Amino acid sequence: GFGVARSICFVGAGFVGGPTAAVIAYHNPHIQVNVVDLNEERIKSWNSAHLPIHEDGLLKVVRAARDGTVEKTIALPGLPRAIELKQRQPNLVFSTRVVDAIEEADIIFICVNTPTKTHGIGAGSMADVSAIESATRTVAKHAKQGAIVVEKSTVPCGTAQMIQDILRYYRPDVEFEVLSNPEFLAEGTAVENLMHPDRILIGSAQTLAGLRAAAVVKDVYGAWVPAARIVTVNTFSSELAKLVANTMLAQRISSINAVSAMCEELGLGADVEDVSLAIGKDARLGSNFLQAGVGFGGSCFEKDILNLAYLARELHLDVVADYWLAVLRMNEDQRQRFARNVVRELNGSLRGKKIAILGFAFKDGTNDTRNSIAVHVIKDLAMEMPREIAIFDPGCASAEIREEIEKAGLTPSQLERIKILTNWRECVQEASAVCILTQWKQFRGRKLGSGNKKAPKLAIAWAKSCVADKVDISEMDILALEELARDKS
Ligand code: UGA
Repeated sequence: GFGVARSICFVGAGFVGGPTAAVIAYHNPHIQVNVVDLNEERIKSWNSAHLPIHEDGLLKVVRAARDGTVEKTIALPGLPRAIELKQRQPNLVFSTRVVDAIEEADIIFICVNTPTKTHGIGAGSMADVSAIESATRTVAKHAKQGAIVVEKSTVPCGTAQMIQDILRYYRPDVEFEVLSNPEFLAEGTAVENLMHPDRILIGSAQTLAGLRAAAVVKDVYGAWVPAARIVTVNTFSSELAKLVANTMLAQRISSINAVSAMCEELGLGADVEDVSLAIGKDARLGSNFLQAGVGFGGSCFEKDILNLAYLARELHLDVVADYWLAVLRMNEDQRQRFARNVVRELNGSLRGKKIAILGFAFKDGTNDTRNSIAVHVIKDLAMEMPREIAIFDPGCASAEIREEIEKAGLTPSQLERIKILTNWRECVQEASAVCILTQWKQFRGRKLGSGNKKAPKLAIAWAKSCVADKVDISEMDILALEELARDKS
């Protein structure tokens, strides 16, 4: 029956499962938390000091819950800071023992990948839920009576129902409650987002059993999240809300990017950053996610917009589908326009010229090179056959940058001209244009960024001041760049 959870299992030790499990374990020392994954390498990494994902503060939380070692920094006046180590009972285990962990669990969080389908029906827009299906089959076979199954992965609406159907098929005799509890953490701030969430969303069936199950999961989060921030709704609303949240965030970016295009063509000194500042002061609009730039990257926004639009299309709501898809269309146009602007500023041809790219990660503060806007821009520029495209990123490994670029489908002679450098000076030396494609704080320049607190990312509006003979590297924050070079070496 339902009561208080004593054992929780996370299926999938990826970007969502790992950090979420660690923070839940950290705040619930009385609950045993097992994270399982079939990938042995990944589990090995979770059990080491080199976690498979780099997030601020993650190692500290993992050390506390996994090893029982709590670090506390003590600052006494007049004395150097000291670190005090305390012990607690470890309650977080990473392993490949999937069946054992599932058998024991009162709550099972499914945190496996749901990439966009690459072939067959719905290729390029529908989410591939086969990893969820197979995880659910394993859960169905081994979970104990009354276990609560929670879908944590971002999924198409209706997936909770699918999970419920699979469970019923394998165990018609047992009632399982299936909940939706979408994740809202962003890359680079995962631990902060988990520790201080804006909200925790729990969707359940509105039956007595469903509401009880929701209450059990609510208790787990209640260990550190104020009750007012825990929102409970029905399952379908919860699934939909996740997709809508990401789509609306992306829509804000596309909206401000549309404004940046207009500012640019208008001339007359209209500045998208001023517009952004001005409208952000309206409490109804708010100031977040209003930074114009080269467009949004990352693995979530595009996928979730496609997902939402696919649902609309299936419901024969073509206008609605097109409405959401315009957010993506705008994003694509923004990055293409950026590349076009660079070419135009260089008098229509890149032949014989060197182009410098500062920043490759899809956003600052991460080393994630996947789904980066940079790769699209570089591809467009490479088509113009410049003498060289030099790339520098303060966070990304050269090999990973290379790998991403190789996937972009360039010809060997285009690839040959692309150099990945570990020194920013060498990167910008003799370049006809410097393109800042990630908003790393180090790239913030007085001239380029027009003020310290403002967007450091090369917005389209910046392109002009940044291209060709207009670029003056001495105007950039040289000190910050020096620091950056030191960090990197
Ligand atoms: C996003 C959401 O922010 C999370 O809430 C959500 O949980 C997550 O997706 C997910 O579904 O897993 P993430 O993709 O990690 O998180 O990163 P964001 O910080 O949202 O940035 C996405 C892109 O938008 C980046 O390329 C960023 O540079 C760009 N962006 C962001 C802008 O161009 N302008 C802005 O004002 C803000």
